[in-house]
Amino acid sequence: MSNGKTLVVYFSRADENYNVGIVEVGNTELLAKEVVAKTGADEFKIEPRDGYPAVYQEAIERATEERRAGARPEYVGDVDISGYDTIFFGYPIWWGDLPMVVYSFIEKHDWSGKTVVPFNTHEGSGNAGTYDILGAKRVGATLKGGGFNMPGSVARTDEGIKMLDDWLSGL
Ligand SMILES: Cc1cc2nc3c(=O)[nH]c(=O)nc-3n(C[C@H](O)[C@H](O)[C@H](O)COP(=O)(O)O)c2cc1C
Repeated sequence: MSNGKTLVVYFSRADENYNVGIVEVGNTELLAKEVVAKTGADEFKIEPRDGYPAVYQEAIERATEERRAGARPEYVGDVDISGYDTIFFGYPIWWGDLPMVVYSFIEKHDWSGKTVVPFNTHEGSGNAGTYDILGAKRVGATLKGGGFNMPGSVARTDEGIKMLDDWLSGL
């Protein structure tokens, strides 16, 4: 889809989650892996140094507190994005926003001149205005592809992956 180098960056939480029960691979990660498979891009998963609790209610409480505090949780390792032209950027919606650890990643990197292709999962909020945050409103990346989002429970189905493939083919 691009002549330059492509990277897939994503955050996704496994374990117990809304509407899907206990899962070994998070909803957004399923989409991210499909993007990697279809594009041959490199990938980087944002892994919080202090992993989120496996129990949904406990994860909710931690995320609530992080958002209230405007926390920037540390993550493990990093990737140099300077050599990539196009960056697929995947995440779940947490409290109508990007998860705070995603802000941690965003704020550590220079997005000027980058083309960002956002995709996300949710359970009703759509992209919740996060594409605006990635674009002109805050991060200043050039967005491409209009963004792609679906309920996390749909991302776990063959139909969901087919919808993602169709979107990728149209880029
Ligand atoms: C802490 C937390 C907050 C959430 N807040 C929202 C929300 O505001 N709107 C929404 O539609 N879904 C919300 N969800 C649901 C997730 O966006 C959805 O389950 C998503 O698919 C999870 O992706 P993941 O498995 O890749 O982590 C929330 C989930 C969690 C754990």
